[in-house]
Amino acid sequence: MFSMELALQEEQSERAASLLRRAREAVWSGRGLTDRLLAFARQQPGRVEVCAVDGVLEDIEILSRPALSGEVALRLLPEEPQLQVRCDPGQLQNALLNLVLNARDEIRGAGRAGTITLGARAVGDDLVELSVGDDGEGMSDEVRRRAADPFFTTRRGHGGTGLGLAMVYGFVQQSGGDMRIYSVPGQGTTVRLTLPRVAGTPGLTVADSWADIPVGAGETVLLVEDEPDLLDLTRGLLQRLGYGVVTAPTAQAAWALIEAGQAYDLLLTDVFMPGGLSGLDLAERVAARDPARPVILMSGFALHPDMGAAGPRFRHLQKPCTPHVLARTLREALETR
Ligand SMILES: Nc1ncnc2c1ncn2[C@@H]1O[C@H](COP(=O)(O)OP(=O)(O)OP(=O)(O)O)[C@@H](O)[C@H]1O
Ligand SMILES: [Mg+2]
Repeated sequence: MFSMELALQEEQSERAASLLRRAREAVWSGRGLTDRLLAFARQQPGRVEVCAVDGVLEDIEILSRPALSGEVALRLLPEEPQLQVRCDPGQLQNALLNLVLNARDEIRGAGRAGTITLGARAVGDDLVELSVGDDGEGMSDEVRRRAADPFFTTRRGHGGTGLGLAMVYGFVQQSGGDMRIYSVPGQGTTVRLTLPRVAGTPGLTVADSWADIPVGAGETVLLVEDEPDLLDLTRGLLQRLGYGVVTAPTAQAAWALIEAGQAYDLLLTDVFMPGGLSGLDLAERVAARDPARPVILMSGFALHPDMGAAGPRFRHLQKPCTPHVLARTLREALETR
């Protein structure tokens, strides 16, 4: 990747430059895929924090709402107060969102209205169990046994990579917990995660609360994300935080908007995107045109210094991140411009 970055800075034909950019994009997507596999294989340490379960469930309820249509309801079971787990909060949120989206897909596939149920309870002194249930079509025993295998999917052709449950499984194992799938064909599925429990101190909240999340002042964010679910989720969150949102599904579409004079205060863009122009290319074009414009890159892996000159020039958000981390990064970027 570093060699390609250097080569791109040399004089060359337009065709060679375009081939190099494509090669760089292929290396990036290979890296993104490797990253998900590493998360599964437990080679990648996460941040370990104490997370308040009620805060995590509240985040999931708020975040997933924009991705659920009228036919899919989300229900929170009353949980025991003061439950706390020890794990990476961003990865936990990502795991639960993956389960909620699987449940949604299953309910939609069944073609009728349905309910997703989120719950949490203590299992002895050492564990907390988090569950995501649905009343969709359920799985056969064969599918249930293989569901967490990397690349196993019954949604091939519908955008499924089959890495969702593999990542969830990798995450809970890495965190000292476990995952179990219970399913009855025709009736539904419940996925239960266990995570190490941390004794709660009554009255002491460790979660960032929605009451003191830093909000926007009506600024407009240009959001670029090719994954439709993630686009909906992030747009919903930004609106809730008090930002205006303009969206584009590719870097090219975003660039076309900018060239057509679209007003915006900040660019928030994914890095890997199909279509020849990456989020980083877009960020560079924006910086060349308008050096003071705040730009935030989001990707599933850390941008290392070995990405060449481009990496450290822009603010970077590691996906998955919690709503609070996104909210703070937005304020920093907008207030220090
Ligand atoms: N709630 C559920 N109900 C029924 N089947 C499910 C449910 N969740 C997962 N599955 C089955 O397990 C398979 C693997 O799920 P997984 O999340 O790993 O991949 P995916 O959803 O197909 O693709 P991706 O998550 O990468 O977009 C699914 O294709 C589906 O057959
Ligand atoms: Mg999935």
